[in-house]
Amino acid sequence: MNEINTEHRADRPRGPQLLAVSDLHVAHAENRTIVEGLRPESDGDWLIVAGDVGERTEQIAWALRTLRDRFAQVIWAPGNHELWTPKQDPAGLRGVGRYEHLVEVCRDLGVLTPEDPYALWEGTGGPVRIAPLFLLYDYTFRTPTAANKEESLAQARAAGVVCTDEFYLHPDPYASREEWCDARVAYTEERLAACDPEVPLVLVNHYPLVRAPLDILRLPEFAQWCGTERTADWHLRFNTAVVVYGHLHIPRTTWHDGVRFEEVSVGYPREWKRPGHARTVPRRILTAAGAGASAPDGQAGRLLDALHDDL
Ligand SMILES: [Fe+2]
Ligand SMILES: [Fe+2]
Repeated sequence: MNEINTEHRADRPRGPQLLAVSDLHVAHAENRTIVEGLRPESDGDWLIVAGDVGERTEQIAWALRTLRDRFAQVIWAPGNHELWTPKQDPAGLRGVGRYEHLVEVCRDLGVLTPEDPYALWEGTGGPVRIAPLFLLYDYTFRTPTAANKEESLAQARAAGVVCTDEFYLHPDPYASREEWCDARVAYTEERLAACDPEVPLVLVNHYPLVRAPLDILRLPEFAQWCGTERTADWHLRFNTAVVVYGHLHIPRTTWHDGVRFEEVSVGYPREWKRPGHARTVPRRILTAAGAGASAPDGQAGRLLDALHDDL
């Protein structure tokens, strides 16, 4: 039996909460059960979904619609899995075309995306502005001994570590994923710079913005598919309350230069069923104490109540 923190069940927060989750990977039936079990803690809760909802458009739409029906506002940033072009997906779109199609799906559902104005959260821990980001990666988190992307990729291949993105995440019409990343970084940097510096930001990105959280990867070659050096100082340059990310399937809280980073991933069933895996989703991002305060470590909520009987 995995460890479950029950302390917070008696400690229901008062007032609307800002919650976050990522890596729902709803192609797995057991993860769809998790989505069906997700509920707000109180009226007016918002839910951040930091990417990797799934691969197939109809499954992504199902998950976001299910969550949209329950939470006052859902905010989505894409993961690498949403950007794949799966063979079975009738949409069949690649790269930018696929991303723009997903943005349209979100708009039809009332889900906010990186293409929308950054929403102001005025519930518990606010006011903060929530900025969902889509930045991709550019292979700058390469292996320590590689001089360039090619060497880093070669080392990864030799180690038997190749991200599936290499086969399914197409950059069209850009020539490469790093060119697409370059355009996204430039666009996003400009938008963040235009934000009111007096209002703290919750930066939501599928990847962790800084490299340090990647240091514990079991397969260090995987880091090159996990972000870009170009965002290394964004949590300092912009008035950042919290960085919310996923992708690594290592849910935890870390601090970098005094800024809190929250990985909020669920991951695959084989991962969240592992003894000791922290299954605290959805995670509460802000407390009444203020944006910079650390959230409690265990926020099991009804999801874990529901799963308790299954495991
Ligand atoms: Fe994932
Ligand atoms: Fe991912």
